[in-house]
Amino acid sequence: MATIKAVRGTRDLLPPETALWNHVEATARSVFARYGFGEIRTPLFEATELFARGVGEETDIVSKEMYTWEDRGRAESDRGQSLTLRPENTAGVVRAYIEHKLSDSGMLEKLFYIGPQFRRERPQRGRYRQFWQIGAEVLGPPWSGSDSALRDAEVLEMLATLLDELGIKGWRLALNSVGSADDRKRYSEALRQALAPVKHLMCEDNQRRAETNPLRVLDSKDPNDQEIINGLPKIADFLDEASREHFEQVKAALDACGVPYTVEPRLVRGLDYYTRTTFEFTVPDGSGLGTQNALLGGGRYDGLSEMLGGPRAPGIGFAIGEDRLILTLQAQAAEQEQKKLDAFIAPMGVGQNPGALRLARELRRAGLTVEVGDGNFRLKKSFEAADKLARKMVIFGEDEAATGILTVKDFSVGEQAKVPRTELVSFLKS
Ligand code: HAM
Repeated sequence: MATIKAVRGTRDLLPPETALWNHVEATARSVFARYGFGEIRTPLFEATELFARGVGEETDIVSKEMYTWEDRGRAESDRGQSLTLRPENTAGVVRAYIEHKLSDSGMLEKLFYIGPQFRRERPQRGRYRQFWQIGAEVLGPPWSGSDSALRDAEVLEMLATLLDELGIKGWRLALNSVGSADDRKRYSEALRQALAPVKHLMCEDNQRRAETNPLRVLDSKDPNDQEIINGLPKIADFLDEASREHFEQVKAALDACGVPYTVEPRLVRGLDYYTRTTFEFTVPDGSGLGTQNALLGGGRYDGLSEMLGGPRAPGIGFAIGEDRLILTLQAQAAEQEQKKLDAFIAPMGVGQNPGALRLARELRRAGLTVEVGDGNFRLKKSFEAADKLARKMVIFGEDEAATGILTVKDFSVGEQAKVPRTELVSFLKS
């Protein structure tokens, strides 16, 4: 009989890996608590209209990636309803905010969530059809300070803290402002005009986007279209005075906190609700994510509550791709394990130990990672230890001490070389 397998794009999480998932979630909960966030859990499915209105009909998510079905009423008299597995959680959080009249308190709401989301994307490493997000949203009536640039900076600073506490290395924050809804409208129009004479040169997807949602063209990774995209107008030139000032304040607060960032004028993000600040955190190539190097994304959505029929409630939030975070942690840990020392110094005889230690001191002070063997070791034992621990072995015998010319074995090529002591540091670094 044919066996039944997990559905394409979904996967089982098993021990011992689940321990890492729990560690990540516990760390996130502890960081969120320090910043005053409380947990919200919204349903896994919602009315389809929530995403159509909130995320936007023209986005990739809504136009082609949602798991949507017609839920029949049980009784004849019940009407059917179109339902959708949530592809993201921001729309659900804002729906709950409106439904439970959280604005009545007049306070800022700080909410976080951890849970699965569903998108019918082409599965690959770091991209699944059921994936987990760890996200947070800050929203409230304008008089609660919800539209302040301070909130944007606080959320970004919290993310930097969380990634550092988890031990993610080499993260980069890409930051932009997409302005107010009006700015975006004007910018979209400018893009449409700029694209009209050249769009026929672009890939099919971009030709369609140039018509329906020109902002999406900026996200395109199609290598042939990059030249045209680089020449398009920049959103920064379309920001009104208030949005520009807001962005300056976000950057100033980040500078004050020492959170590094790069302004990326093309970062507009794939969801329609964004206004003003948008951002993404990426990790360097080789961190286990392949082409899916966006660890998390987010931004401000000052008009979303009203788009969903609620009161004015500016907000900002983010969602971390938890699967990607775990892949990165695993890849970076493996890399750390594999990392060998720059050199192993092998003294030839106990009499050479002091000189070998002195050489190690010099090399370590020059920033190299070094281990020293022992003069008691037979040569074979030194070779074995060195091969296990280091990329190169430095033989330190009587001759070497006298002449200042050292014998260095390079394990990667299996060759031995004579290196003057004055050139040793640069030779070992190479
Ligand atoms: P998003 O950029 O669509 O934003 O998703 C956020 C993160 O979820 C991505 O950066 C990525 O790490 C992860 N992710 C997305 N799709 C997949 C997938 N198919 N497989 C694995 N990971 C994936 C949002 O969802 C917004 N709701 C974020 C937000 C919150 N904006 C404001 N508040």
